[in-house]
Amino acid sequence: MATTTFCIFLFLLSITFQIFNLTSSSLEVDTLLSFKSTIQDSKKALSTWSNTSSNHFCNWTGISCSSTTPSDSLSVTSVNLQSLNLSGDISSSICDLPSLSYLNLANNIFNQPIPLHLSQCSSLKSLNLSNNLIWGTIPSQISQFVSLSVLDLSRNHIEGNIPDSLGSLKNLEVLNMGSNLLSGDVPNVFGNLTKLEVLDLSMNPYLVSEIPEDVGELGNLKQLLLQGSSFQGEVPESLKGLISLTHLDLSENNLTGEVSKTLVSSLMNLVSFDVSQNKLLGSFPNGLCKGKGLINLSLHTNRFTGLIPNSTSECKSLERFQVQNNGFSGDFPIVLFSLPKIKLIRGENNRFTGKIPESISEAVQLEQVQLDNNLLDGKIPSGLGFVKSLYRFSASLNHFYGELPPNFCDSPVMSIVNLSHNSLSGSIPQLKKCKKLVSLSLADNSLTGEIPNSLAELPVLTYLDLSDNNLTGSIPQSLQNLKLALFNVSFNQLSGKVPYYLISGLPASFLEGNIGLCGPGLPNSCSDDGKPIHHTASGLITLTCALISLAFVAGTVLVASGCILYRRSCKGDEDAVWRSVFFYPLRITEHDLVIGMNEKSSIGNGDFGNVYVVSLPSGDLVSVKKLVKFGNQSSKSLKVEVKTLAKIRHKNVAKILGFCHSDESVFLIYEYLHGGSLGDLICSQNFQLHWGIRLKIAIGVAQGLAYLHKDYVPHLVHRNLKSKNILLDVNFEPKLTHFALDKIVGEAAFQSTLDSEAASSCYIAPEYGYNKKASEQLDVYSFGVVLLELVCGRQADQKDSSDSSLDIVKWVRRKVNITNGVQQVLDTRTSNTCHQQMIGALDIALRCTSVVPEKRPSMLEVVRGLQFLESRTCVANLQGANDEPSIPV
Ligand SMILES: *[C@@H]1O[C@H](CO)[C@@H](O)[C@H](O)[C@H]1NC(C)=O
Ligand SMILES: *[C@@H]1O[C@H](CO)[C@@H](O)[C@H](O)[C@H]1NC(C)=O
Ligand SMILES: *[C@@H]1O[C@H](CO)[C@@H](O)[C@H](O)[C@H]1NC(C)=O
Ligand SMILES: *[C@@H]1O[C@H](CO)[C@@H](O)[C@H](O)[C@H]1NC(C)=O
Ligand SMILES: *[C@@H]1O[C@H](CO)[C@@H](O)[C@H](O)[C@H]1NC(C)=O
Ligand SMILES: *[C@@H]1O[C@H](CO)[C@@H](O)[C@H](O)[C@H]1NC(C)=O
Ligand SMILES: *[C@@H]1O[C@H](CO)[C@@H](O)[C@H](O)[C@H]1NC(C)=O
Ligand SMILES: *[C@@H]1O[C@H](CO)[C@@H](O)[C@H](O)[C@H]1NC(C)=O
Ligand SMILES: *[C@@H]1O[C@H](CO)[C@@H](O)[C@H](O)[C@H]1NC(C)=O
Repeated sequence: MATTTFCIFLFLLSITFQIFNLTSSSLEVDTLLSFKSTIQDSKKALSTWSNTSSNHFCNWTGISCSSTTPSDSLSVTSVNLQSLNLSGDISSSICDLPSLSYLNLANNIFNQPIPLHLSQCSSLKSLNLSNNLIWGTIPSQISQFVSLSVLDLSRNHIEGNIPDSLGSLKNLEVLNMGSNLLSGDVPNVFGNLTKLEVLDLSMNPYLVSEIPEDVGELGNLKQLLLQGSSFQGEVPESLKGLISLTHLDLSENNLTGEVSKTLVSSLMNLVSFDVSQNKLLGSFPNGLCKGKGLINLSLHTNRFTGLIPNSTSECKSLERFQVQNNGFSGDFPIVLFSLPKIKLIRGENNRFTGKIPESISEAVQLEQVQLDNNLLDGKIPSGLGFVKSLYRFSASLNHFYGELPPNFCDSPVMSIVNLSHNSLSGSIPQLKKCKKLVSLSLADNSLTGEIPNSLAELPVLTYLDLSDNNLTGSIPQSLQNLKLALFNVSFNQLSGKVPYYLISGLPASFLEGNIGLCGPGLPNSCSDDGKPIHHTASGLITLTCALISLAFVAGTVLVASGCILYRRSCKGDEDAVWRSVFFYPLRITEHDLVIGMNEKSSIGNGDFGNVYVVSLPSGDLVSVKKLVKFGNQSSKSLKVEVKTLAKIRHKNVAKILGFCHSDESVFLIYEYLHGGSLGDLICSQNFQLHWGIRLKIAIGVAQGLAYLHKDYVPHLVHRNLKSKNILLDVNFEPKLTHFALDKIVGEAAFQSTLDSEAASSCYIAPEYGYNKKASEQLDVYSFGVVLLELVCGRQADQKDSSDSSLDIVKWVRRKVNITNGVQQVLDTRTSNTCHQQMIGALDIALRCTSVVPEKRPSMLEVVRGLQFLESRTCVANLQGANDEPSIPV
């Protein structure tokens, strides 16, 4: 009897418990829905927040739940709605969630004052409103948030003074009010916030104040971030109390006076010490490395003077050392080069003396050295060539002398070398190893000998300044293969004929001061043996004629051999055994196809074989690409590969309808598009396409590529993008064709075909010279070239008239760097109406064609960028409204 009663009791208890559960969870559902009801959710990001769906509320977007004991019901503890483009009202109804401890609404567009009513959330510990449009002042009622341990109001438009009542938030561990519009004097309100670990008042330009003394009482503070505001006066001695501090950033303020020695030697846990860009005086803050954990030391752009002590050798973890733009003197501390982790050394614009030691070779992690404009002397150490990670070395405007060590550019990642304005002598070594060299300046030295031919083997070399030396000999022809945006050899003793394509488009002043040079555009034209002569026109005419007749002969030979090849393969075709796979009902036999592919139907000689337009019995047209099969791919694997390509469905990728193959060739059958290729359109006499249509084409092409790169599985790269491989339908919707042919002809055959034209094709990125691997970045470069064609209204490689005989990338780079050059590259036929959009597109194209592959954007970023341009209204060129692009490295 007793047991029965007990069982019933238990049963009742459990029912009560479940009912209670039900009630509390439907309460939470109602609370969340009521919170949602005042929010504007334009992206429908909160679509899972719905009481009709079977989805439990703990599984709604951004919600996390937990229960205090396993038998308890789940309740909401965290609401994380960051980056959802939410706006509207943040309602206090959310505070009806009894266990809510974390609320993150960062990166949205809430446009309102600080939502003080959230202080009603009794369990709330962390409130993040960073990066919204919160405005107004901080009210003194901010003290109501007394239970918070994390308050992030950064990156909003909060203005006015910091109220005294802030000092009551005694539980705060993180307080971030960076990047706002706070102003006035910062009061001493921090002393009581003893749990504070992070205090961020950075980037508040109107905060004109001294650093509050009482910050020094925060013994638990790890990060004090005050950079980019307007703090003035001295760095308070009281900061020596910050015994836990790891990050101190006081940079970009208006601080004056000296940094006290006791302060520096008290901060034993520092990892980063940055006081750059102030007006600080006095000597180097000695003792910073006593704690041995310092990674970042930045004193740059102040008024420090005196010596840098050898005790910097204690900085065993130091990675970044920046003391540039000060008045330091004495020997540059060579111990720095022996620090095991050092990556960055900047000491330019001081009065350092001394030498760069051979021991630089020990700096195995060193990436960047800048010591320009000092009083350094001695030789450039040959140790330099052994630092494998070094990508920038500049030491211009010093007194270095002697010869350049032959290996000075041997680091495999070296990109920038500037040794101009020194007293170097001897000849320029043959540089072959630094395949990533972008910029080399050796101007204003006493170098002799010839310009080494091997410079032409550095595929990404773009800026070359050898002016003001004593170089002799002729300018190597092979340099024309580079996309040089700057080539300055003025004031040497060079002689002979100037390679025309090398200097076309560059100012003549880059050649001046070399009496022996001759050629078009120079005071002297050349005689047949390359010597300067003084009667002008005739030499040029003879040269041009010779070139034309040479081209004619070569052309004839090519045509002739093409004919022979064509006949042979035709014969072979008729005898061959054909197998075909159609992905669409085509109703055509292999025989019809072979017969249909004749001289008359050929519409062009592509890179991997001819393209034909064949009419089907139905009257429809298809385009057929004939590929010679080089690889020994089995017909089974060929089928798999083509099938992979044929499954692509995207409005900007041409459909593969099927294919036929024999032992020797493969015919890929594509849908036919009536608009021809973009390349043909650009070539045509009066290419007048409206800018709006050009931009649509560019967006389509970018979307097609982005799809191949990221959305299609397996991911593909086009590898042969050019305007001739972009087809247009009658509405100018572009479709990529002849993509991923490497999958069909095989890697080896693909590369050798591409190689045979790599030198000439300006669609191929410069790094292809040393890295043949397929990469998205190669496609991005090619896309950049196509975009330049659209913006400039000219072919990528125009050989006919003398002024425009340049690779379009070279041509644009050279123009863009001169005053009004941007106006000169924009296609005048459309630039009057949509000037700003075109400038924007030019900027994107320049970034896509950056010589450094890592600097190029992804196709997805390009799509976004172009769509953004499209969304801006077209405006004509307004005087003074210029945000002109610049050339990225
Ligand atoms: C973000 O929200 C705003 C206003 O609700 C809306 O105009 C805009 O289109 C939204 N952006 C996106 C990317 O959804
Ligand atoms: C869903 O919520 C609305 C508004 O709170 C309420 O009227 C409705 O009855 C709820 N539906 C269910 C199935 O709970
Ligand atoms: C959330 O969804 C997962 C799977 O979708 C499910 O296993 C889990 O039980 C759900 N949680 C709740 C609380 O309903
Ligand atoms: C607030 O959210 C932003 C965006 O996610 C994040 O970067 C920031 O670190 C958060 N703040 C804190 C204090 O956690
Ligand atoms: C700090 O706390 C003490 C004692 O509670 C109080 O007297 C003082 O006013 C507080 N200081 C600030 C700046 O809030
Ligand atoms: C720095 O202070 C000077 C005067 O002390 C003032 O003229 C100047 O505008 C201030 N600069 C900044 C960036 O606050
Ligand atoms: C650092 O050490 C070098 C070599 O031991 C010495 O020549 C130099 O004077 C020292 N520099 C300073 C600032 O003490
Ligand atoms: C360059 O060479 C000429 C003759 O070879 C010599 O007279 C002159 O001093 C040299 N100039 C420099 C800067 O070395
Ligand atoms: C670009 O022009 C500036 C100033 O006209 C010049 O200093 C710079 O060297 C030029 N750069 C190139 C790459 O031509």
